[in-house]
Amino acid sequence: MTTVLVVDDEQLLVKGLKRSLEQEGYKVLTAHDGFAAVEVFGNEKVDLIVLDIMLPGLNGLEVCSAVRREKNTPIIMLTAKGEDVDRIVGLELGADDYVVKPFNTRELIARIRAVLRRAQTGPREEDVDESWLQNRQLRHREVVSALAGSSTAGFHRLGDNERVMYVAVPVRQDKAVQGVVMLVVGVNDIYETLNQVAARMILVSVLSALLAAVLSLALAGVFTRPVNRLTRAVRHMEQGRLDQRVPTRSEDELGELARAFNSMSSRLEQTERHRREFIANASHELRSPLSSIKALSQALVDSGEKDPAMYREYLRDIDSEMDRLNRLVENLLQLARMEEQELQVHKEEQEVAGVVIHVADFMEPLAAARNVRLTTAVSGRPVWPLDRDLVIRVLFNLVDNAIRYTPAGGEVRIEAEVRRRELVLRVRDTGEGIPEADQEHVFDRFYRVDKARSMATGGTGLGLAIVRQAVGLHGGRITVESIPGKGTAFEICFPK
Ligand SMILES: Nc1ncnc2c1ncn2[C@@H]1O[C@H](COP(=O)(O)OP(=O)(O)OP(=O)(O)O)[C@@H](O)[C@H]1O
Ligand SMILES: [Mg+2]
Repeated sequence: MTTVLVVDDEQLLVKGLKRSLEQEGYKVLTAHDGFAAVEVFGNEKVDLIVLDIMLPGLNGLEVCSAVRREKNTPIIMLTAKGEDVDRIVGLELGADDYVVKPFNTRELIARIRAVLRRAQTGPREEDVDESWLQNRQLRHREVVSALAGSSTAGFHRLGDNERVMYVAVPVRQDKAVQGVVMLVVGVNDIYETLNQVAARMILVSVLSALLAAVLSLALAGVFTRPVNRLTRAVRHMEQGRLDQRVPTRSEDELGELARAFNSMSSRLEQTERHRREFIANASHELRSPLSSIKALSQALVDSGEKDPAMYREYLRDIDSEMDRLNRLVENLLQLARMEEQELQVHKEEQEVAGVVIHVADFMEPLAAARNVRLTTAVSGRPVWPLDRDLVIRVLFNLVDNAIRYTPAGGEVRIEAEVRRRELVLRVRDTGEGIPEADQEHVFDRFYRVDKARSMATGGTGLGLAIVRQAVGLHGGRITVESIPGKGTAFEICFPK
């Protein structure tokens, strides 16, 4: 077994090194100062010395000289940075190699191996024993081909771990090959370095592959997350949950898609809310006259009264409720038709004055019955492309409102004029007016400012909703101005 003497005053370093070397199969002797080192060297068989320079007692350089006086035992010096390496390893002291502190144990072991190998394969002159060569024939491939005239090199394995390179070169005299010089060099160091490099490269490749995989997963996550969110939101909408919104932070195509999705879902949600409200309101409004009719007819059926006057009165009430129901159903149908865009608008050139007078004539009896003065004022003789039926329906509704919501003695006026290339129709009254807060809602379906009063006048709250829808279909717009207690003006503008 190869014996290594480790000399260093750092006890822990010696302890660690001893263990590593023993694991590599060396027998390890230790010394903590120069005198102890020389003593151990004198008493034991030592194959290699690992020697620190700064030692108590004899220093490393003195130990080295002492050893060299005795034997050629290989020495590896442990030097600190800045020490005169040439002097240590050079001829003066004759150390075989050196390692700079702090060192890597694996490197030290590699150097120990190399130095030992050199000591064995490259013996000093006085140790060379040539007897084994006598009377032997060298049949190595390299020798054979060098004898044939060409220099050759080859790698071989000696035993399990030893790799060597043979180089054979012919020696010529007068062109004839006289002999061969063969060189055998240990190449374990080179193989070891190659193996280390290969192992590092494998490690680096594996790590890079792992890193690439992790990075691509993370990147894929970044790109697919918004799409997944959108998909989830669509699934939820499919199940009727219309309140879905997705974040729209990015400015790219995905952000654009998310914004479009959000606006679509909020539109859908709004439409759905309107639909529910409409159904709730419609059924409520339909139920009111039906309940009255039911109550009245029930009273007739149950009463023992024989007086025909009473029957007539109740039947008259039922009749008026039936009218209200009829109007409600009629209005609902009209609205539905307009919303479904089933109603086609047929515009034809119309004399505006003719339309206005037609409406006034028709509404005159109602105005007279309520003691309201109905007047018209058309400036110029405008002719305009209008859907006559649609416009008459709009004006009926507006004038009907104006008469109903204007107290006796008041005035309702229908006006028409062309202003900035638009036809303006106006219905104004001197009635009760609409409070400011209600003005933006009067066009909503079923909206009535004073529910009790409107019920008494038979209003369904659909008139202005129909008006707005019709004006919209016709490509126009409607606005309201009203001062409570003074009067109201609805103004419609039809561009040409
Ligand atoms: N000229 C007006 N003056 C004062 N209030 C008005 C006038 N026009 C409309 N309103 C208010 O706006 C509400 C909505 O009007 P709308 O015509 O839509 O319904 P309605 O008249 O109640 O019923 P109907 O569907 O039978 O017309 C009315 O109930 C009323 O309170
Ligand atoms: Mg009305």
